Amino acid sequence: MDISFSAKNIAHSATLAMNELIASIRESGEKVYHMGFGESPFPVHHLIRKALCDNSWRHSYLATQGILPLREQVSMFYKKMFNLDYPPEQIVIGPGSKPLMFAALTALDGSIFLPAPSWVSYQHMGHFLSREVHHIITRSKNSYRLEPDALVGAIQENAPDSKQQKVLVMNYPCNPTGHSYDGHQLVEIADIARENNVIVLSDEIYALTHFRDQEHHSIAEFYPEGTLITGGLSKDRSLGGYRLGTLLIPPDETPLLRAILAVGSEIWSCVSAPIQYAGIEAYRIDTGLVEYIRDCATVHEVVTRYVYQRIRTMDVTCPYPQGAFYLFPDWNDRRMALKKIGITTSKELANYLLENYHVASLPGSEFGMPPEDLCLRLATVDYDGELALDTYLEDMSSALEHPETFVSAVAPSVLGACDQLDLFAAHISSEE
Ligand SMILES: Cc1ncc(COP(=O)(O)O)c(C=O)c1O
Repeated sequence: MDISFSAKNIAHSATLAMNELIASIRESGEKVYHMGFGESPFPVHHLIRKALCDNSWRHSYLATQGILPLREQVSMFYKKMFNLDYPPEQIVIGPGSKPLMFAALTALDGSIFLPAPSWVSYQHMGHFLSREVHHIITRSKNSYRLEPDALVGAIQENAPDSKQQKVLVMNYPCNPTGHSYDGHQLVEIADIARENNVIVLSDEIYALTHFRDQEHHSIAEFYPEGTLITGGLSKDRSLGGYRLGTLLIPPDETPLLRAILAVGSEIWSCVSAPIQYAGIEAYRIDTGLVEYIRDCATVHEVVTRYVYQRIRTMDVTCPYPQGAFYLFPDWNDRRMALKKIGITTSKELANYLLENYHVASLPGSEFGMPPEDLCLRLATVDYDGELALDTYLEDMSSALEHPETFVSAVAPSVLGACDQLDLFAAHISSEE
């Protein structure tokens, strides 16, 4: 059969494809250290499980925008956690934040600007919609943050007419790098966006996975009239398979809301009824959920920063992680030695690590980086989340003070991956 123009250039999501590949390698009995897929591993909070069971009898279609009690709960949650005011009328519930982003990008006119590196799916959504996609190169030494000058340069080069609307997708804490932005950095980007008619689609799905020394700010604090925020349950509540996401839109944007709901109504109709009712429980702020979210984030912090420290001892540059569960080491300084063993692209680097050291990762090129830029994304979640959380709760100070002991007890595969990377780094050094 002939494949349509818009589907021709779309590949299976690199992250999901990697997960499926690793599952099949493991089924064949081979050992693999899985740093290729980022799924938060903690158990479902017992109150959410109970709410889902209690509501399993619900079987009717619901409104596309989502049920009012859930939108009210989300509204209160955003007020309490981020001091942001979004009344229920400005909130849309969808089957994950990914389809909501797609609906928002469908509804919003304008070419799409993405910092590189950025999450795998944005660029494909843009291509799917036949939109111009412009990557804005960022610098490893600035932790791959979007810099104001680079944003201005990209706008002037590609869409200088300030009457012409543009869309900038931002994500922080960031997948793939783990970096975030402080208030001052966001103000600078907000000012440029306002001056240049840029709408910001702010992917804040990792907002509550920020580490203890980092406070989460949303660009919506500084640019409320031009920001859409996506979020959901997939990361901080480990509920990726529940498929529940949220989209917050600015006030007085009725045509935009209508367009987004039209897309939703034609594609997913509504989020499943039991999940929406369980979602009310998942957004409560007075039942221990907030503490559970914080504890899970701290376990991510201990494991991710442990891997970061190990990587730094390998003499590899890597942004200091401030949230989420990813690292983005940059091997460019070792380019000469890598070339000697046949590695000149990030894809070759990732393949070499998988074939020779059994470490699965994703090449930076999947995140919009030039193919020859030797960076990789490592996910730090290949462990039993229940064991890790229980062990952390039993003795928090020990986990925080002795991360190596904690990681070796609860995340042996993560420790093993670090040891394998050490061997690889030693091999490269011997080529230098
Ligand atoms: C940056 C980023 N945004 C969005 C998503 C998708 O989240 P959801 O499960 O809400 O569709 C992911 C999932 O991997 C992600 O890493």
